This record gives sequence, C-alpha cells and structure tokens, in this order.
Amino acid sequence: MIIELATPDDLARLLAFREEAAAWLAELGSDQWRRPYPADRLLATIEAETVFMVRDHGATAATITLTPEAEGGLWLFEELAEPSLFVNKLTVARTHAGRDLGGRLLDWAGDRAYRSGASWLRLDAWTTNEGLQRYYRRHGFEHIRTVTEGGAVNGGPRVSGWLAQRAAREDPFHGLLDMTPAPVPIAAEER
Ligand SMILES: CC(C)(COP(=O)(O)OP(=O)(O)OC[C@H]1O[C@@H](n2cnc3c(N)ncnc32)[C@H](O)[C@@H]1OP(=O)(O)O)[C@@H](O)C(=O)NCCC(=O)NCCS
Repeated sequence: MIIELATPDDLARLLAFREEAAAWLAELGSDQWRRPYPADRLLATIEAETVFMVRDHGATAATITLTPEAEGGLWLFEELAEPSLFVNKLTVARTHAGRDLGGRLLDWAGDRAYRSGASWLRLDAWTTNEGLQRYYRRHGFEHIRTVTEGGAVNGGPRVSGWLAQRAAREDPFHGLLDMTPAPVPIAAEER
C-alpha cells in the first residue's frame, strides 16, 4: 500500500468512492453524504495538494484530505490562533475496512501535523452520526462542541458540525504509510 497525493486524474475515482461510502452509510441508516460533493470544489482541493490517495496494487483503498484551512464558521478565533491541521473526507473502502486503516491514517495525519509545527489535528464530523463520533473518540479525539447552525444550504442546519481534536503527535512509524515528502511547516500567516 502506498499513500500519495491525488492528481486531477483521480477526480472521477474520488467522486465514485464517495458515492460508494454514502451507499454504505445509507445501509447503516445515516443520511451522511447523500448529496453528491461538488466536483469543482473537490478538484480545487486536489489542485491545492491536500488530497491523498492510499492505493493498494492500483485499487483505491482509502483517501484523506489534510489541510491547514479551517471550514468557515466552526472554530473560534482563539482556536484558530493555534496552528492545526484539519482532517476532511477520511474514507476507507469497504474492501479494506476492519483493519484500522482509518486509525493508521489518523496517526499518519497526526505525525504530519506534528512535523509541520501544528499543535492539533482537528475535524468536523457528521452531526447526527453517533457511530462515527464514537469511532473518533475511540481514536483519541476529544469532542469540543457541536455547531448546529450556519450550514451551506441557506444557513440551515449544520450537517457536519461535531468538532473534535487530538494533540498532534509524532508517530515514529508515520502510520506505516508515509511515502510522501515531509510536510512544509505551516507559515505564520496561515495560522
Ligand atoms: C470512518 C472510516 C474511515 C473508518 O475506517 P476504518 O478505520 O477502516 O474502520 P471501519 O470502517 O472498519 O469501522 C470501524 C467501526 O466503526 C464503525 N463506523 C465507522 N464509520 C462509521 C459511520 N460513519 N457511522 C457508523 N459507524 C461507523 C464501523 O461500523 C465499525 O464498527 P464495528 O467495529 O462495530 O464493525 C470508514 O468507516 C469510512 O470510510 N466511513 C464512511 C465515511 C465516513 O464517515 N468518513 C468520516 C468522515 S468525517
């Protein structure tokens, strides 16, 4: 298995991957990710070099987006003053589930955060998905608060407002996945 930056050629694969995850989530009774993710926004994150692919003999095993940019309207000014990396769209293929690949990716992300000088690894999870929230708590994340308003659709309910964080920490094994170049330290103006 290798981890590497996604390229624009991965766009269709990533959109299909997300649809597969949404179908699995629907089977679990969750409405998470029912709305397709806008392709132009996904492409912009790929071009910003924040999207990573885990490939297993050419097949997509997982993806994670890791960015210093916080989603608007979720984190407080004081929190944003602390250097952090944000995990978005963590997804593991059902073919690769049950082996804690997501946990290894979180360790990999925490290690990159640590090495880039960030104090925190942060995320916002689906507000109504308690199973997912338990997953993140099991992986050492502390729930900070749940933001319920200010969503993308007419400022309505916030679908992804369960905020959590874990201290960025060095992982000597880099989550056993680190095939990518070392991260560039977060610039002061990005903090
Ligand atoms: C979250 C995820 C990346 C974890 O991958 P993983 O480390 O391989 O872990 P698994 O998929 O084996 O899940 C571990 C357990 O958490 C549960 N779980 C994981 N995601 C869940 C979710 N969104 N809702 C409910 N339960 C979930 C699984 O059912 C499983 O439970 P079990 O141990 O009783 O079988 C993967 O489950 C996934 O892709 N989920 C769908 C996409 C998603 O919600 N991503 C998070 C975005 S913030």
